Amino acid sequence: MPSPAPTLAIDAREVAKTFRSGWFRPRLTDALRGVTLQVPRGAIVGLLGPNGAGKTTFLSILATLLIPDRGTARVLGLDVVRDSMALRRRLNMASGRPSFLWSLRVSEIIAFYGRLYGLSGVALRVRVDKLIEQYELKPYRRVPYSELSTGLKQRVALAKSLVNDPELLFLDEPTLGLDPDVSVRVRAHIAALRRERGMTIVLTTHYMREAEELCDEVAFIKAGRILDAGTPEALKRRIGLGDVIALRLEPAPPAWLGEAPGVLRCATADGWTKCTVDDAEKRLPDLLRQLFADGVTVRNVRVREPELEEVFVELAR
Ligand SMILES: Nc1ncnc2c1ncn2[C@@H]1O[C@H](COP(=O)(O)OP(=O)(O)OP(=O)(O)O)[C@@H](O)[C@H]1O
Ligand SMILES: [Mg+2]
Repeated sequence: MPSPAPTLAIDAREVAKTFRSGWFRPRLTDALRGVTLQVPRGAIVGLLGPNGAGKTTFLSILATLLIPDRGTARVLGLDVVRDSMALRRRLNMASGRPSFLWSLRVSEIIAFYGRLYGLSGVALRVRVDKLIEQYELKPYRRVPYSELSTGLKQRVALAKSLVNDPELLFLDEPTLGLDPDVSVRVRAHIAALRRERGMTIVLTTHYMREAEELCDEVAFIKAGRILDAGTPEALKRRIGLGDVIALRLEPAPPAWLGEAPGVLRCATADGWTKCTVDDAEKRLPDLLRQLFADGVTVRNVRVREPELEEVFVELAR
C-alpha cells in the first residue's frame, strides 16, 4: 500500500549553516543557527527579516541548492540531502534578483529549463507557450534577456519556476524593486497558484504588508534564528501591541486619559493624541462618552490595528 502523502510540506529541525570564505584567514559566518520550521501543505508562509538574516540561505537549503551543516529538513516527505534528486523534480525556486544567460531570448530561457526537467518536442513547446501566455510575455518572447526591464525579468523568473509544475515553490523576494501596480499583480498571481493548484509557497520578503496580505503564517528571522512565528494576528496578539486610537481633541487631552480602563499607553504629538488600547472596538465608546462628559471636543478620530512591522520592531529589540 502506498504511504499517505505527508501533511507537512516542510519539516525543518535545527538547521544550521556556516559559510567559510577566504583562504589564508578564513572568515566564518553563521548564516543559520538552528532554524526549526513546519509548513503545512497548501500554505503560503513568509520569512521576514533584515538583510543578512539568513532567509535566502534557508530557502536554498530547502530547495536542495545548499547542504546544511547540522539539522535535518524533510521536504514533501523527502530528505533534502539524501533524496535531493527526487525532490528537485517536485519543487522550484524563483529569485527577485534573477540571473539567466544574458543573450538567451525569453522563450529560450523557459525552454532551456523545461529540457532540464525532461520535457521535449511538442510537450515542451506547449508548456513554454502556455507560460508565456500566462505571464503576458508574448510581445517579448524573442527579446534577449539583457534587454528586459526589472519587472519583465522577474516575470520570466516566475514563468521559468513553473515549468515543472511544482508542488512546492520557493520565492525569494518576488516583488523586489517592482512598481506598486506590478507588485499587486504578482501577488495576485501567487495567491492564485495556491488557490487554483493547491501549491505550497514559501516566500521571503522585506515588505510586511506583502506578508500580511499573502501569508497564512509568517516567521521572523534575524541573525540566523527564528524569533517568532505564527499567523499575523496571533503574533500581534502575542506581542500585546494593541490597537491605536488617534484623537484630535480640544482643548488638550485630560490627565485621566492615560489611566482609563484598557488604555496601555497615551502620547500626544502634532495635535494627535494616540492611545494604545487592548481592544479599540470595546474601549472607544466609553472613551468618547467620558471625553464628552468632560467637555472635551473630539474633532477627529482614527482607529488602526497594529502592523506586522511593529511586531518585528518589538521582537528585534
Ligand atoms: N556564499 C556565501 N559565502 C559567504 N557568506 C555568505 C554566503 N551566502 C550568504 N552569506 C552570508 O550569510 C548571511 C545570511 O545571508 P542570506 O543571503 O541568507 O541573508 P538574507 O536574509 O537572504 O538577506 P537579504 O535580505 O539581504 O537577501 C549573511 O551574513 C551573508 O553575508
Ligand atoms: Mg536574501
